[in-house]
Amino acid sequence: SSQATSSSDGFLQCLSASIPSQLVFTQSSPSFTPLLKSSIKNPKFFTPSIVRPLYIVTPTNASHVQAAVLCGRRNGMRIRVRSGGHDYEGLSYRSERPEVFAVLDLSNLRAVRVDRQTSTAWVDSGATLGELYYAVGKASNLLGFPAGLCPTVGVGGHFSGGGFGMLLRKYGLAIDNVVDAVLVDAKGRLLNKNTMGSDVFWAIRGGGGESFGVVLSWQVKLVPVPATVTVFNVPVSASQGAVDVVTRWQQVAPSLPDDLFIRVLVQQQTATFQSLFLGTCDALLPVMSSRFPELRFNRTSCKEMTWIQSVPYIYLGSGSTVEDLLNRTTAASVFSSGYKATSDYVRQAIPRGVWANIFSKLAQPNAGLMILDPYGGARIGGVPESATPFPHRAGVLYNIQYMNFWSMAGGDGAVQTKWIRDFYAFMAPYVSSNPREAYFNYRDLDLGENVVVGNVSSYQAGMVWGHKYFKDNYRRLAMAKSQIDPDDYFRNEQSIPPLANSN
Ligand code: FDA
Repeated sequence: SSQATSSSDGFLQCLSASIPSQLVFTQSSPSFTPLLKSSIKNPKFFTPSIVRPLYIVTPTNASHVQAAVLCGRRNGMRIRVRSGGHDYEGLSYRSERPEVFAVLDLSNLRAVRVDRQTSTAWVDSGATLGELYYAVGKASNLLGFPAGLCPTVGVGGHFSGGGFGMLLRKYGLAIDNVVDAVLVDAKGRLLNKNTMGSDVFWAIRGGGGESFGVVLSWQVKLVPVPATVTVFNVPVSASQGAVDVVTRWQQVAPSLPDDLFIRVLVQQQTATFQSLFLGTCDALLPVMSSRFPELRFNRTSCKEMTWIQSVPYIYLGSGSTVEDLLNRTTAASVFSSGYKATSDYVRQAIPRGVWANIFSKLAQPNAGLMILDPYGGARIGGVPESATPFPHRAGVLYNIQYMNFWSMAGGDGAVQTKWIRDFYAFMAPYVSSNPREAYFNYRDLDLGENVVVGNVSSYQAGMVWGHKYFKDNYRRLAMAKSQIDPDDYFRNEQSIPPLANSN
């Protein structure tokens, strides 16, 4: 390839001493393109103009990862780490700017070992959430784990940025339940919680992927779930009063009992209320009629099942099975389209009149959708902002995710992307400000990108996006970065820049 340099030859040669050649793919290998594509979830990052890796390395053990990092450093080859490939901006496998890099694809490192005695598990970063949930469900129908809804999301990226789903209000984020981790740092060392140091262990739990090294595996605490949970899906159209019900939901959902999580999908002219309740329908009915009578919820909407059955039911639909959690390529069909997404946090309920405007904007041609996830509850609202890098806790009513999709055959998404940007501008007065908070795992490069000065990402420039994702934790993250990777070997367009103590 014309991009190849002597340093990239050196990289390959160096790898050959420690990694079997069948685990290393160059651009000319017939497997390179299918492998690159295998976990790309946003096809807008699989077009000819996209800056691709020069190599893909697929380690099968920790020593391969250590060797790849050491060879990369010695030969000036940067590495991007990919676990599940779900990054909204594709940063695990493509670069926004011209750059020579290799991808370390962790999909072969995906063991899940559950220890029922201690209700803990070790899960490798290359596992999907579905593989983790499946193993937990196999071990016991009274254990669960609080993380995202989509079963194909990778553990590595998801845990690095926080990770939340239907158990958020009861048990917090995925990172709130991580008790140990194994990290390969920029010196190629294999570190655990004790040897990486408390600042770095704090940083990798929510401070974002790529910045601190390669996290190989995570030890998590599993959480108790009842033998029977109840799920429901209740659509309310605009003509049935959706504007009023959503307006009311903002006050109700964040203050419900922690066992009850009700999120809202707002699309076109319908608000769909999707819920997981940790208990039976009999126990749920009186809570709904006393706390949220506006939804006019009744027994016919209740579906009782085990927690593990609820996972595919909620995300993949009523025809799906627990075994579908093991399919690494199933995902909602919309994700075969290109998409643009971004996020907000709401700390004060949005007035009814504004919701009426929002509904009229969602009726426009090429409009996107909104997902509202309620916060509150002891384990999310009651945890200090500095406990983990993820700061969106006390006082947050709910998270908003905005998404817009398009068929890749039908265009480049310019219209849909513009719709998201215009809608984001419209929402500014009604959401958190100074900073306007955003969720790292819904990565959006519109929020800002690193500026590299003297071969190191600038701390100052990174504040623009860093405060939105991390608020005041950004500074402590930058100090942790300077401890573990002062030369900024691990970096991307939104990685944490180093900040030496003296700065
Ligand atoms: P990917 O492999 O693309 O990595 C993401 C970032 O982390 C990249 O910068 C990468 O370099 C880095 N990284 C990956 N593995 C690493 C490792 N082992 N060590 C160090 N750095 C690493 N979120 C949520 O909270 N709740 C939800 O319900 C959902 N649902 C959802 C559905 C769908 C369809 C998508 C596409 C995304 C979500 N998400 C989500 C967002 C998701 O949490 C986010 O995209 C994660 O970063 C994805 O992790 P992957 O490992 O799949 O991504």
